Amino acid sequence: MENVLQAAKDLAASRHAVALTGAGISVESGIPPFRGKGGLWEKIDPMEYAHIEALRRNPEAVWRVLIQDMKTTLDTARPNDGHTGLAQLEKMGILKTIITQNVDGLHQLAGSRHTIEFHGSFAWMRCMNCSNRIETRYLDISVIPPRCACGGIWRPECVFFGEEIPPRCLIDSKHAAMSCDVMLVVGTSAEVQPAAYMPVIAKNRGATIIEINPEKTALTRSVSDYIIRGKAGEVMNGILSALNQIRSSAPVDG
Ligand code: APR
Repeated sequence: MENVLQAAKDLAASRHAVALTGAGISVESGIPPFRGKGGLWEKIDPMEYAHIEALRRNPEAVWRVLIQDMKTTLDTARPNDGHTGLAQLEKMGILKTIITQNVDGLHQLAGSRHTIEFHGSFAWMRCMNCSNRIETRYLDISVIPPRCACGGIWRPECVFFGEEIPPRCLIDSKHAAMSCDVMLVVGTSAEVQPAAYMPVIAKNRGATIIEINPEKTALTRSVSDYIIRGKAGEVMNGILSALNQIRSSAPVDG
Protein backbone atom coordinates (compact mmCIF):
# COMPACT_ATOMS: atom_id res chain seq x y z
CA MET A 1 0.00 0.00 0.00
CA GLU A 2 1.27 3.40 -1.03
CA ASN A 3 2.44 5.85 1.69
CA VAL A 4 2.78 3.25 4.48
CA LEU A 5 6.55 3.83 4.71
CA GLN A 6 6.00 7.62 4.60
CA ALA A 7 3.52 7.36 7.48
CA ALA A 8 6.01 5.30 9.50
CA LYS A 9 8.71 7.92 8.87
CA ASP A 10 6.36 10.79 9.84
CA LEU A 11 5.32 8.98 13.02
CA ALA A 12 8.93 8.09 13.91
CA ALA A 13 9.86 11.78 13.60
CA SER A 14 6.78 13.10 15.42
CA ARG A 15 6.88 14.40 18.97
CA HIS A 16 3.12 14.50 19.54
CA ALA A 17 0.87 12.38 17.34
CA VAL A 18 -2.92 12.29 17.77
CA ALA A 19 -5.57 10.11 16.08
CA LEU A 20 -9.16 10.87 15.07
CA THR A 21 -11.11 7.66 14.54
CA GLY A 22 -14.53 6.84 13.15
CA ALA A 23 -16.77 3.83 12.57
CA GLY A 24 -14.49 2.47 9.84
CA ILE A 25 -11.85 1.35 12.36
CA SER A 26 -14.44 -0.97 13.95
CA VAL A 27 -15.74 -2.48 10.69
CA GLU A 28 -13.18 -5.33 10.93
CA SER A 29 -14.60 -6.01 14.42
CA GLY A 30 -18.01 -6.72 12.85
CA ILE A 31 -19.58 -3.36 13.65
CA PRO A 32 -21.22 -1.82 10.55
CA PRO A 33 -20.35 1.76 9.59
CA PHE A 34 -23.05 4.43 9.32
CA ARG A 35 -22.44 5.54 5.73
CA GLY A 36 -21.28 3.87 2.53
CA LYS A 37 -21.39 0.14 1.80
CA GLY A 38 -23.41 -1.70 4.49
CA GLY A 39 -23.95 1.54 6.39
CA LEU A 40 -26.58 1.63 9.15
CA TRP A 41 -28.04 4.87 7.82
CA GLU A 42 -28.65 3.15 4.47
CA LYS A 43 -31.19 0.98 6.32
CA ILE A 44 -32.70 3.34 8.90
CA ASP A 45 -33.24 7.08 8.88
CA PRO A 46 -30.98 8.64 11.56
CA MET A 47 -33.36 11.58 11.95
CA GLU A 48 -36.16 9.12 12.71
CA TYR A 49 -34.21 6.96 15.20
CA ALA A 50 -30.91 8.61 16.22
CA HIS A 51 -32.18 12.11 17.01
CA ILE A 52 -32.82 13.15 20.62
CA GLU A 53 -36.36 14.34 19.70
CA ALA A 54 -37.16 10.84 18.33
CA LEU A 55 -35.89 9.28 21.57
CA ARG A 56 -38.05 11.61 23.64
CA ARG A 57 -41.10 11.17 21.38
CA ASN A 58 -40.98 7.40 20.91
CA PRO A 59 -38.34 5.70 23.06
CA GLU A 60 -39.82 2.25 22.44
CA ALA A 61 -39.36 2.56 18.65
CA VAL A 62 -35.79 3.87 19.06
CA TRP A 63 -35.02 0.93 21.36
CA ARG A 64 -36.58 -1.58 18.97
CA VAL A 65 -35.03 -0.23 15.74
CA LEU A 66 -31.65 1.09 16.91
CA ILE A 67 -30.50 0.52 20.48
CA GLN A 68 -31.38 -3.19 20.92
CA ASP A 69 -29.29 -4.30 17.92
CA MET A 70 -26.43 -1.97 18.94
CA LYS A 71 -26.29 -3.66 22.35
CA THR A 72 -26.32 -7.14 20.79
CA THR A 73 -23.49 -6.19 18.40
CA LEU A 74 -21.35 -4.32 20.93
CA ASP A 75 -21.74 -6.98 23.67
CA THR A 76 -19.57 -9.38 21.65
CA ALA A 77 -17.35 -7.01 19.58
CA ARG A 78 -13.59 -7.26 20.13
CA PRO A 79 -10.76 -4.93 19.06
CA ASN A 80 -9.09 -5.57 15.69
CA ASP A 81 -5.55 -4.81 14.46
CA GLY A 82 -6.55 -1.19 13.83
CA HIS A 83 -7.34 -0.63 17.52
CA THR A 84 -4.35 -2.64 18.78
CA GLY A 85 -2.05 -0.82 16.34
CA LEU A 86 -3.03 2.57 17.78
CA ALA A 87 -2.63 1.20 21.33
CA GLN A 88 0.88 0.03 20.35
CA LEU A 89 1.72 3.53 19.04
CA GLU A 90 0.65 4.89 22.45
CA LYS A 91 2.88 2.36 24.25
CA MET A 92 5.79 3.43 21.99
CA GLY A 93 5.27 7.00 23.23
CA ILE A 94 4.32 8.25 19.75
CA LEU A 95 0.51 8.54 19.98
CA LYS A 96 -0.63 10.77 22.86
CA THR A 97 -4.42 10.85 22.42
CA ILE A 98 -7.20 9.23 20.40
CA ILE A 99 -10.24 11.37 19.66
CA THR A 100 -12.85 8.77 18.79
CA GLN A 101 -16.33 9.29 17.35
CA ASN A 102 -17.10 5.67 18.21
CA VAL A 103 -19.11 4.60 21.26
CA ASP A 104 -18.03 0.93 21.19
CA GLY A 105 -15.20 1.18 23.77
CA LEU A 106 -12.88 -0.93 21.56
CA HIS A 107 -9.93 1.47 21.86
CA GLN A 108 -9.98 1.08 25.64
CA LEU A 109 -10.39 -2.70 25.30
CA ALA A 110 -7.32 -2.70 23.01
CA GLY A 111 -5.29 -0.98 25.76
CA SER A 112 -5.40 2.69 24.71
CA ARG A 113 -5.36 4.80 27.88
CA HIS A 114 -5.82 8.31 26.50
CA THR A 115 -9.09 8.39 24.55
CA ILE A 116 -11.65 11.17 24.20
CA GLU A 117 -15.13 9.75 23.49
CA PHE A 118 -16.38 12.63 21.35
CA HIS A 119 -19.87 11.14 20.89
CA GLY A 120 -20.12 9.64 24.37
CA SER A 121 -20.15 5.96 25.18
CA PHE A 122 -22.52 3.00 24.86
CA ALA A 123 -20.90 1.38 27.92
CA TRP A 124 -23.26 3.21 30.30
CA MET A 125 -27.01 3.82 30.33
CA ARG A 126 -28.79 6.71 32.09
CA CYS A 127 -32.40 6.85 33.30
CA MET A 128 -34.29 9.52 31.33
CA ASN A 129 -36.33 10.28 34.46
CA CYS A 130 -34.06 10.14 37.54
CA SER A 131 -30.61 10.15 35.82
CA ASN A 132 -29.60 6.97 37.66
CA ARG A 133 -26.77 5.13 35.77
CA ILE A 134 -26.06 1.47 35.04
CA GLU A 135 -23.36 -0.32 33.03
CA THR A 136 -24.95 -1.43 29.74
CA ARG A 137 -23.55 -4.97 30.05
CA TYR A 138 -25.66 -5.50 33.23
CA LEU A 139 -28.88 -4.15 31.71
CA ASP A 140 -31.70 -6.68 31.29
CA ILE A 141 -33.36 -6.00 27.94
CA SER A 142 -35.91 -8.81 28.05
CA VAL A 143 -38.51 -6.03 28.20
CA ILE A 144 -38.27 -3.20 25.61
CA PRO A 145 -37.89 -0.42 26.45
CA PRO A 146 -36.05 -1.36 29.68
CA ARG A 147 -37.05 0.71 32.70
CA CYS A 148 -35.28 1.96 35.80
CA ALA A 149 -36.72 1.11 39.23
CA CYS A 150 -38.24 4.60 39.22
CA GLY A 151 -40.20 3.74 36.07
CA GLY A 152 -38.06 5.92 33.80
CA ILE A 153 -36.64 4.55 30.52
CA TRP A 154 -32.91 3.81 30.18
CA ARG A 155 -30.97 5.47 27.32
CA PRO A 156 -27.32 5.00 26.26
CA GLU A 157 -24.88 7.76 27.23
CA CYS A 158 -24.13 8.36 23.53
CA VAL A 159 -24.60 11.76 21.92
CA PHE A 160 -27.74 11.63 19.78
CA PHE A 161 -28.19 14.00 16.84
CA GLY A 162 -29.53 17.29 18.23
CA GLU A 163 -27.52 16.93 21.48
CA GLU A 164 -24.37 18.88 22.26
CA ILE A 165 -20.89 17.36 22.40
CA PRO A 166 -19.87 17.11 26.10
CA PRO A 167 -18.03 20.44 26.65
CA ARG A 168 -15.04 18.74 28.30
CA CYS A 169 -14.63 16.48 25.23
CA LEU A 170 -14.80 19.43 22.87
CA ILE A 171 -12.20 21.42 24.81
CA ASP A 172 -9.84 18.45 25.19
CA SER A 173 -10.19 17.49 21.51
CA LYS A 174 -9.47 21.01 20.29
CA HIS A 175 -6.43 21.13 22.59
CA ALA A 176 -5.20 17.79 21.22
CA ALA A 177 -5.71 18.95 17.62
CA MET A 178 -3.81 22.18 18.34
CA SER A 179 -0.93 20.34 20.07
CA CYS A 180 -0.17 17.60 17.57
CA ASP A 181 2.42 17.54 14.81
CA VAL A 182 0.90 14.45 13.15
CA MET A 183 -2.82 13.49 13.05
CA LEU A 184 -3.87 10.02 11.89
CA VAL A 185 -7.47 10.20 10.58
CA VAL A 186 -8.71 6.61 10.59
CA GLY A 187 -12.02 5.28 9.28
CA THR A 188 -14.14 8.40 9.20
CA SER A 189 -16.20 9.84 6.35
CA ALA A 190 -15.59 13.28 7.91
CA GLU A 191 -19.27 14.12 7.32
CA VAL A 192 -20.22 15.05 10.89
CA GLN A 193 -19.23 18.28 12.61
CA PRO A 194 -17.61 19.33 14.86
CA ALA A 195 -15.56 16.08 14.94
CA ALA A 196 -14.60 16.49 11.27
CA TYR A 197 -13.15 19.93 12.04
CA MET A 198 -10.39 18.54 14.28
CA PRO A 199 -8.13 17.68 11.29
CA VAL A 200 -8.63 21.24 9.99
CA ILE A 201 -7.52 22.69 13.33
CA ALA A 202 -4.46 20.42 13.31
CA LYS A 203 -3.67 21.29 9.69
CA ASN A 204 -3.90 25.01 10.42
CA ARG A 205 -1.35 24.50 13.19
CA GLY A 206 1.08 22.88 10.72
CA ALA A 207 0.44 19.20 11.55
CA THR A 208 0.83 16.44 8.94
CA ILE A 209 -2.61 14.91 8.30
CA ILE A 210 -2.54 11.21 7.33
CA GLU A 211 -5.81 9.54 6.29
CA ILE A 212 -6.35 5.77 6.56
CA ASN A 213 -9.47 4.77 4.63
CA PRO A 214 -10.33 2.51 1.67
CA GLU A 215 -12.21 5.49 0.19
CA LYS A 216 -11.43 9.18 -0.31
CA THR A 217 -13.34 11.64 1.88
CA ALA A 218 -14.11 15.36 2.01
CA LEU A 219 -10.73 15.81 3.74
CA THR A 220 -8.62 13.94 1.19
CA ARG A 221 -8.07 16.69 -1.35
CA SER A 222 -8.25 19.80 0.78
CA VAL A 223 -6.89 18.88 4.24
CA SER A 224 -5.00 15.57 4.22
CA ASP A 225 -1.34 15.52 3.26
CA TYR A 226 -1.86 12.00 1.94
CA ILE A 227 -4.21 9.01 2.22
CA ILE A 228 -3.36 5.34 2.65
CA ARG A 229 -6.13 3.54 0.76
CA GLY A 230 -6.79 0.42 2.79
CA LYS A 231 -8.46 -1.21 5.77
CA ALA A 232 -7.42 0.11 9.18
CA GLY A 233 -6.18 -3.25 10.50
CA GLU A 234 -4.01 -4.05 7.50
CA VAL A 235 -2.63 -0.50 7.24
CA MET A 236 -1.78 -0.29 10.96
CA ASN A 237 0.04 -3.64 10.72
CA GLY A 238 2.05 -2.27 7.79
CA ILE A 239 2.88 1.00 9.56
CA LEU A 240 3.98 -0.75 12.77
CA SER A 241 6.18 -3.19 10.89
CA ALA A 242 7.86 -0.32 8.99
CA LEU A 243 8.20 1.67 12.23
CA ASN A 244 9.91 -1.23 14.00
CA GLN A 245 12.38 -1.52 11.10
CA ILE A 246 13.12 2.22 11.24
CA ARG A 247 13.62 2.08 15.01
CA SER A 248 15.82 -1.03 14.91
CA SER A 249 18.07 0.49 12.23
CA ALA A 250 18.19 3.95 13.88
CA PRO A 251 21.72 4.83 15.17
CA VAL A 252 21.96 4.32 18.92
CA ASP A 253 22.56 7.66 20.69
CA GLY A 254 26.28 7.56 21.63
N1 APR B 1 -10.91 0.56 7.62
C1 APR B 1 -10.87 1.92 7.57
N2 APR B 1 -11.91 2.69 7.14
C2 APR B 1 -13.02 2.03 6.74
C3 APR B 1 -13.14 0.61 6.75
C4 APR B 1 -12.02 -0.12 7.22
N3 APR B 1 -12.02 -1.47 7.27
N4 APR B 1 -14.38 0.29 6.28
C5 APR B 1 -15.01 1.45 5.99
N5 APR B 1 -14.19 2.50 6.25
C6 APR B 1 -14.46 3.94 6.10
C7 APR B 1 -15.51 4.30 5.09
O1 APR B 1 -14.92 4.46 3.80
C8 APR B 1 -16.02 5.65 5.63
O2 APR B 1 -15.24 6.73 5.13
O3 APR B 1 -14.96 4.39 7.34
C9 APR B 1 -15.79 5.53 7.14
C10 APR B 1 -17.07 5.34 7.92
O4 APR B 1 -17.82 6.53 7.81
P1 APR B 1 -19.16 6.70 8.70
O5 APR B 1 -19.94 5.44 8.66
O6 APR B 1 -19.79 7.98 8.28
O7 APR B 1 -18.61 6.81 10.21
P2 APR B 1 -18.12 8.10 10.96
O8 APR B 1 -17.29 8.96 10.08
O9 APR B 1 -17.50 7.64 12.23
O10 APR B 1 -19.49 8.85 11.31
C11 APR B 1 -19.40 9.97 12.16
O11 APR B 1 -21.80 10.03 12.30
O12 APR B 1 -23.86 9.02 12.52
C12 APR B 1 -22.86 9.68 13.21
O13 APR B 1 -22.47 9.45 15.50
C13 APR B 1 -22.25 8.81 14.27
O14 APR B 1 -19.99 8.93 15.13
C14 APR B 1 -20.77 8.80 13.95
C15 APR B 1 -20.61 10.01 13.05
